[in-house]
Parts: sequence; structure tokens; C-alpha cells
Amino acid sequence: MSPNGNPPNQKSTSSKSLSPAQAADLQERAIEVAHHAYAPYSNFRVGAAVLLSDGTFVTGCNVENASYRLTVCAEQAAIATAVSLYGPTIRIRAIAVANLNDTASQPCGACRQTIHEFSTPDTIVYFPAEKGAIAESTIAALLPAAFLLTNS
Ligand code: THU
Repeated sequence: MSPNGNPPNQKSTSSKSLSPAQAADLQERAIEVAHHAYAPYSNFRVGAAVLLSDGTFVTGCNVENASYRLTVCAEQAAIATAVSLYGPTIRIRAIAVANLNDTASQPCGACRQTIHEFSTPDTIVYFPAEKGAIAESTIAALLPAAFLLTNS
């Protein structure tokens, strides 16, 4: 725990935070799309709702596969859909991740890298914390050392 009582990498407030109503709306969208999850192997149903910088919403859910490793996470599904619909210049204002399993769950490392690709330093990430709370962080805090391809 950090001195302010928050777990490392989790901030309780941010100057770029959404309003409580906006954050709740994004969370609702993530829960709604989690009902579409295809997760017969883990039974862990995840939804992600992306708010793009132009105010557009895009959602996605996890899609598992019998081979396991071909599973697509909810965040990656949502972001791939956003790029498919709106093109490569999209930027993520905020992303909410939810699951239907009533458990705390942070975005996995691969999803952090995927979010980072379309983020700004202020991109907000909401995810389920302990006891039903919603944690708020930034992608910069969640992935401070993202992989960057600098020699192209
Ligand atoms: N999962 C996500 O959709 N997002 C994450 O950030 C972590 C994990 C999914 C993948 C798999 O279908 C299930 O949760 C269990 O790992």
C-alpha cells in the first residue's frame, strides 16, 4: 500500500477523471457487453467499454478458444473493434473493464500494452477492485515501461 492507502499503481483521483456519472455509464456498458462473453473454459466473463477521445463508445468481450492461447481478451476485442470502425487514429479517453464473476481483476499485461498503443498519458482505466469497488488508474501508471518500436 502507498502512503495514501491506495494499492500501488491505483490512484483515487485524477485531474483527467471522468465525472462519476460518466464513469458509472462506462462501467455499465462494460457489464452489459460482458453478457456476450464466450468463456466456456474459464467461466470468467469480461467486458470492456472504451470511450474514445471524440466521445464515441465501443465495447468488446472476451472470446475464448479450445486451444486456450487463441483467447481474445475483452479489452483487445473492444480496441480492435474501435480501430476497425473508426480507423488507426483513434485515441482512448477512458476504458472500463468489468467481469460478471464479482471479483477484483486488473487488465492483463498484454491488454495494458494494447491500451497503451492507442492511449495518451492521461488515458484513464477503470477496473474491479476488492469488495465491489471500482479502481481508477492511468495507463501510464499501469504500464510505466511499455514496449515502443523506436527503430522503424
Ligand atoms: N481476460 C480478459 O478478457 N481481460 C483481461 O485483462 C484479463 C483476462 C479474459 C481472458 C480469459 O478469457 C479469461 O479472462 C480468464 O483469463
